[in-house]
Amino acid sequence: MIFTVAIDGPAAAGKGTISKAVAQDYGLAHLDTGLLYRAVGWRVLQGEAPVAAATALEAGDLSHDDRLRTPEVAQAASEVAVLPEVREKLLDFQRNFARRDGGAVLDGRDIGTVICPDADVKLFVTASAEARAERRFLELEAKGIGVSRAQVLADVQARDARDSSRDAAPMVAAEDAVTIDTTNMSIEAALDRVREIIGLKLQA
Ligand code: DC
Repeated sequence: MIFTVAIDGPAAAGKGTISKAVAQDYGLAHLDTGLLYRAVGWRVLQGEAPVAAATALEAGDLSHDDRLRTPEVAQAASEVAVLPEVREKLLDFQRNFARRDGGAVLDGRDIGTVICPDADVKLFVTASAEARAERRFLELEAKGIGVSRAQVLADVQARDARDSSRDAAPMVAAEDAVTIDTTNMSIEAALDRVREIIGLKLQA
């Protein structure tokens, strides 16, 4: 069976938590595509050119969660993600992952629009910039990364603007995606809604 779930949306809207839960519930493989862009961004911060960095990417590059989940790497990821040649280099890996037997859930910005336009379920998970910045601030604080609330909000807004205004595969809800706004929703309530949507699709 190939069952594909595409989950898009801005940073810290709850995509990651929802994707992991969906993968666990339905026995699907999960790919956080943001990690690919973060790994390229990390290499660029070490001095490599963006396209060379995307070409040289290896599976091992993705297994350094701590170094990839910093605010600097997030901004670098958003900057390299503007480049069509970088996106092109990462395309086949994502599409092959999506086609794996048993099915997959992919989360990112362009999964429902570009990577998996035929996905069985498409979700666009969003929330206000303020709510997302507060969640990200608490996550960073818990990890001991010292940064102010105002700086986190500014970073979130800068990334939203860059990710949604770029020409190549901008962040946008696919026409046939279901939008879930988690601003005033608990993660449990969001997951109930997602399970309902997937359940209906599986029955059909
Ligand atoms: O999901 P994330 O915050 O880890 O993503 C980091 C950056 O990578 C994001 O700001 C834009 C880029 N990205 C993208 O352009 N397309 C994707 N499918 C996933 C991430």
